[in-house]
Amino acid sequence: MANEGVNQGRRRLLVGATGVVGGAGVVALAYPFLATWQPSARAQAAGAPVEFDVAQVEPGQLVRVGWRGQPVWVTHRTPEMIASLEENRPLLADPDSNVAQQPAYAQNATRSIKPEYSVLIGICTHLGCSPSYRPEVAPADLGGNWRGGYFCACHGSRFDMAGRVWRNVPAPTNLVIPPHRYLSDTLLLIGEDEEGAA
Ligand code: FES
Repeated sequence: MANEGVNQGRRRLLVGATGVVGGAGVVALAYPFLATWQPSARAQAAGAPVEFDVAQVEPGQLVRVGWRGQPVWVTHRTPEMIASLEENRPLLADPDSNVAQQPAYAQNATRSIKPEYSVLIGICTHLGCSPSYRPEVAPADLGGNWRGGYFCACHGSRFDMAGRVWRNVPAPTNLVIPPHRYLSDTLLLIGEDEEGAA
């Protein structure tokens, strides 16, 4: 069948996971690799879509999934993180995601299909560094108006928990959201949506 190659290529490629929100602050945990299955070299070269079960991501945690050689961040947002998105609006350069950095189905208040799960390509839109996940609220080094997000130490760009860029930082646009869809309640497919493969 024509789609056998695609199905064979839908392999899980979990690269690693970091970051959990603790009660009084942040507990940074160094997670071991949770899974090590690699798609075939041929499937990787073809940019095959990658399946990932979001049920394994704890609230507040970010897990990195590899797709086409890029880090895709799957973050399980807590209700507090979701609430912070609206509070952040005055700080942001493009709060409504008018620049086409996401599929149409992710141009919404949470930039997602499911508000509790954020799916982003973890590459800074300035010069391509990989930002750090900083879920804590008002840490000393980021200041009192930091409500959690992604911080790029290369040149100081800031993004909120939906990957929306702050005003007056070097990065010009929000983080990119890859095409994706859910095959079931929790099974995420990265690299393909209802329109087909990216
Ligand atoms: S590469 Fe991220 S701020 Fe420059």
